[in-house]
Amino acid sequence: MGSILVKNGTVVSPLDSRELDVYIEGTTIVAVGAALELSADRVIDASGCYVLPGGVDVHTHLEMPFMGEVSADDFTSGTAAAMAGGTTTIIDYVVPAKQQSLLEALALWKEKAKGAVADYGFHMAVTWYSDQVAREMTTCVHDEGISSFKAFLAYKGAIMVNDDELFAMLIHARELGALIMAHCENGEIVALLQERLFNQGKTEPKYHALSRPSYAEGESAFRLAAMAKAVGVPAYFVHMSCAESTKVLVDGRSGGTPLYGETCPQYLLLDDSVYEQPNFRGAAYVMSPPIRPKGHADALWGAIRAGQIEVIGTDHCPFNLKGQKELGRDDFRKIPNGAAGLEDRLKLMYTYGVQTGRISIEQMVATCATRPAQIFGMYPQKGIIAPGSDADLVVWQPEGEGVISAATHHHRVDTSIFEGFKTIGGPAFVIAAGRLQYEEGTLMVEPGAGNFIPRRPTP
Ligand code: URP
Ligand code: ZN
Ligand code: ZN
Repeated sequence: MGSILVKNGTVVSPLDSRELDVYIEGTTIVAVGAALELSADRVIDASGCYVLPGGVDVHTHLEMPFMGEVSADDFTSGTAAAMAGGTTTIIDYVVPAKQQSLLEALALWKEKAKGAVADYGFHMAVTWYSDQVAREMTTCVHDEGISSFKAFLAYKGAIMVNDDELFAMLIHARELGALIMAHCENGEIVALLQERLFNQGKTEPKYHALSRPSYAEGESAFRLAAMAKAVGVPAYFVHMSCAESTKVLVDGRSGGTPLYGETCPQYLLLDDSVYEQPNFRGAAYVMSPPIRPKGHADALWGAIRAGQIEVIGTDHCPFNLKGQKELGRDDFRKIPNGAAGLEDRLKLMYTYGVQTGRISIEQMVATCATRPAQIFGMYPQKGIIAPGSDADLVVWQPEGEGVISAATHHHRVDTSIFEGFKTIGGPAFVIAAGRLQYEEGTLMVEPGAGNFIPRRPTP
């Protein structure tokens, strides 16, 4: 592996943007400075472009068994799509079945991840709780480089945990210095509403959204925040979608509880009219939490701008309309939940965040790379362009129009929830671990080249 010099670009950090050159040797950034007088095997002229740290997406579900199906992107196709969009590191969820050993599930995920083209880490989902689970959580932190655990407070009868289990997880996380993350929706309310709607003959995709009201997300977020405060540990809200959970986050933080919030482009850019699409097309948008009515996105954007929501993830979990989503044609409860977004995240945040003036380019870098790396114990290896950091960076062309479409995306799925969305700008070059992975529209990835990134507990 040789050296690369990225010249004349505007290097962006969460704090500022400066005209600097970046010199890479092997897998590492060696020097960042003005007008570096260094020769290299490859010189990339980044004049007129931003140079961003490689994107870090801390919320993916690749090849995940869920609701009787398996999500359509595996680690090779999913991370290749990520690379094409400028994301060079992901964290995927290991999701054990109830009663399954966490370490047994981890072994399965390690096997699947062997084909990754980008670097990856794992969060561990805790879908049941016992002394064995507690011991295995300890092993995850001490021996496996996994320092974050997710509780699903929804999906009753499947992977949901009850309040006593969540509380026990929080107490154990305090001993481990680990971070508890939660899918906040009140699973009891959702299950009741689902059954009632279905029994009234309401079977179409739009009833998925109506069975999962935003107050159920707010209630569940409040419960988690209250427990985290009582135990004295941080907590992380995944895929926040509504004004109610945003208020819980903001109130909790101002009261001194260390809460972290993540949202995703779909909650910022879509509204619940998507469920009205004809011919079962609304099923493409069936995900949990669902896409909310107009107005909620404003609360989320406001919280991002104010630095309260610190992470943009994707919750990338694609299912094909044909053969997968259509299993729920007569019963919205059977539509596999999830959609694709890994490749689109940075372009959407640039086009609809930076270009519209909602956020700055520095805030885009903070939410899409730096804060995720910091919160999840990968910084400064990931998330920043600095000497000693991994050589993961994107030469970002700030102009040029594009359109998102399932016909052209690299995701291995037959629909895009962002179909027809116009984009401005995008990656011209993507470098990961010192390897050129994407150059002016051409992907040059290698299955298996991605490495597992062990993560430390964060203070
Ligand atoms: O609908 C979703 N979000 N599917 C993936 C699983 C989850 O809840 O994150
Ligand atoms: Zn979730
Ligand atoms: Zn998810």
